[in-house]
Amino acid sequence: MGHVEPVLANTDGVTSIFHPLSQPAQEIKELSLLVLAICGAIFVVVAGLLVYAIIRFRHRAGDEASEPPQVYGSNQIELAWTILPLLIVFVLILVTSRTIADVQNRKAPPSAVHATVIGHQWWWEIRYPELGIVTANELHVPTSDGGGSRPTFIKLQSADVAHSFWVPLLAGKTDLIPNRENLMWIAPTRPGIYPGNCAEYCGTQHARMLIRVVVQPPDEFQQWVRDQQQSAAIETSAAEGRKTFFANSCVNCHSISGTPAQGKFGPDLTHLMSRTTLAAGAAPNTPDSLRKWIRDPQSIKVGSLMPNMQLTDAEVDQVVAYLQMLK
Ligand code: CUA
Repeated sequence: MGHVEPVLANTDGVTSIFHPLSQPAQEIKELSLLVLAICGAIFVVVAGLLVYAIIRFRHRAGDEASEPPQVYGSNQIELAWTILPLLIVFVLILVTSRTIADVQNRKAPPSAVHATVIGHQWWWEIRYPELGIVTANELHVPTSDGGGSRPTFIKLQSADVAHSFWVPLLAGKTDLIPNRENLMWIAPTRPGIYPGNCAEYCGTQHARMLIRVVVQPPDEFQQWVRDQQQSAAIETSAAEGRKTFFANSCVNCHSISGTPAQGKFGPDLTHLMSRTTLAAGAAPNTPDSLRKWIRDPQSIKVGSLMPNMQLTDAEVDQVVAYLQMLK
């Protein structure tokens, strides 16, 4: 398993459908290889016969101009080329529907983690209704190991247009459709950060709608849950920034638990500093890029729905200092 490292890598880490590290991606890959092998064998036989006929029976000087003998009504030949393709198609239907049924009908065990992922232009809202957690762009899940399988079942919804949730190492694509709820599940066994992205064109910043699935050993995951369940830090050192934040319309779009900020359009900021990127992976979550983002969101993500609040440099610094407290 020498391909594990890329999983742990940065947001640009290369990801591949050919090296799945979780069900159901593993099962889908195996099925795809079987279908590819069968179709490849058919291609080789058909193309081989074609090339053979073209060469063996090509036009030669001195050939007669009349038609060669015509073959009609051979029951054996007609039966063979009817039954054989039927059998092949039947095998393909059986193995495919078995895999589809297995993936779609999987029931959540009592130990399962339940998350709801809501697509927005252009970021992912992530909720854990049973745990009382709201976050964005980074989906934390526990590992499943051989003994104690603990899959994560994900409800997919959209707040605006169609999106598609795709983390190639974990599972196939599943769309997020307005006014509809789709379901998927993952059961990764290997800790790491799994990069993924939106796979359905959803507007200007479709390409910068990145998702990260953070797979953690059970105890680390529990620790993350406990941290996220805390209310926002009540700091004293960034009172100016806090005042600026609440005096502006930031609060109309963003939530910070335990404060009057209860906006729903933008990502929840209660534990903003626990996330590694800003704007769904468009920039690393550093004080510098946070400053740049607040001063002019369009400079990082053209088309972003976050407006430029026209803050002064001093105000931007204060707000950044306040947001830095939201660990
Ligand atoms: Cu969201 Cu493409």
